[in-house]
Amino acid sequence: MAAPLFILIRVSGRHADWRFVRGREGGDGFPGSFRALDLSQGTFGAAPLLLLSMIRASGPYEKESDHPEGLPDPSGAMTSRRRFMDACRCRPVDRPPIWMMRQAGRCLPEYRALKENYPFLELVRTPELATEVTLQPVRRFRFDAAILFSDILVVPEAMGQGYHFRDAGGIEMEFAIREAADIRRLSVDGIEERLHYVSDAIRLVKRELSQQTALLGFAGSPWTLANFMLEGGSTKTPARALELRRADEALFCRLMTKLTDAVIRFLRQQIAAGVDAVQIFDSHGGRLTAEEFDTGSGRWIREVIAGLESDIPVIIFSKGTRDFHSLLRSGANAISLDSGFDLGEASRIFPDDIAIQGNLDPQLLLALTPEELRVATHGLLRKMDRRPGYIFNLGHGVPPTAPLEGIASVVETVRNYHG
Ligand code: CP3
Repeated sequence: MAAPLFILIRVSGRHADWRFVRGREGGDGFPGSFRALDLSQGTFGAAPLLLLSMIRASGPYEKESDHPEGLPDPSGAMTSRRRFMDACRCRPVDRPPIWMMRQAGRCLPEYRALKENYPFLELVRTPELATEVTLQPVRRFRFDAAILFSDILVVPEAMGQGYHFRDAGGIEMEFAIREAADIRRLSVDGIEERLHYVSDAIRLVKRELSQQTALLGFAGSPWTLANFMLEGGSTKTPARALELRRADEALFCRLMTKLTDAVIRFLRQQIAAGVDAVQIFDSHGGRLTAEEFDTGSGRWIREVIAGLESDIPVIIFSKGTRDFHSLLRSGANAISLDSGFDLGEASRIFPDDIAIQGNLDPQLLLALTPEELRVATHGLLRKMDRRPGYIFNLGHGVPPTAPLEGIASVVETVRNYHG
């Protein structure tokens, strides 16, 4: 077996003085499991935190151009990356690939440990830390795809509307958009420059995944971003975007046009940096009625996808939306379903060239034992047996308090499934 690869991340102080050291361990001695070592007592003296993260590589890095569909596994099995990419394109696979929305984050003790030293936005904006958080769930659970650790709200922030976390939970924007002048002030030009930390993180993650595991980039849909920006933060029942659309369609369109442009640029930037696929999160899609969905959200998602000018797979997750006609016309390769819609029914009504992702109810991770989760997971797999384009996922994000044994049970059930 090839020597493991290790990365030494040295951090001195909260306001990061960074070194990113990479090397290969020459001999045996590292069994191939992953380790985090605290070297704060070691040769680096005063640094308050040293994080050593060992990442096992199954071979020396190879150039992407050598293996456009992913490196072959030594055992002859499909690589995770290939399995994921093929499922997105509705090609036959050995078993459905699996990843979970919000797999990187609060459910993992290793994430919570990092959060003790760094606020969320520092994790997001520091490529080496964002890389570490992106890789954590892949190391622990061997998901077939990693999703870049970032946030949909970095786009409004780069346009001039910053945000922070409320002590009581949820997020708050620096201000709420109230009038035409607020929209005029949002700046799209040069957004790539202000989001360069995202492409830097993607390049680091890609190197670590070494073609074995797929990497997803993502963005919020223009409609979902508009909800946060008009509300001025997270609320349980956002209403202002709906109100603006009904009261002043021209102004609503002006905001949506700007957001669409920004999202296109952001996703193109991620694609240029090397993500394998992108997911668009339309988490507030279900706030629109079926009649309103296309003009309120669907149309803008369609423009985003057309604007990518790329043939990498696009997944659309529009929570609560039942205007499948609009989603099917969006140009997306895959539709990610929330838990409120039956997968078997989706499989019957969606065309064969559209992949389906989803949709285990995330609440089940809290309510069921690992054994019960195995049965529930098996039930979804059986429903999708005859469909090549199926990606296993949850119906929304992993709850922050989800027990790790339950997540592991779901992953193992999918990994061991062979039809
Ligand atoms: O693992 C992954 O899925 C990748 C990382 C990711 C995050 N946010 C990290 C995060 C992704 C894909 C997102 C998307 C996102 N961000 C969405 C769409 C998906 C969804 O859940 O509907 C939305 C609406 C946001 C905006 C956002 N980010 C809010 C409203 C909040 C605060 C509320 C909350 O869940 O705590 C966040 C914070 C956030 N984004 C966290 C993480 C891990 C929690 C931060 C922390 O306290 O550690």
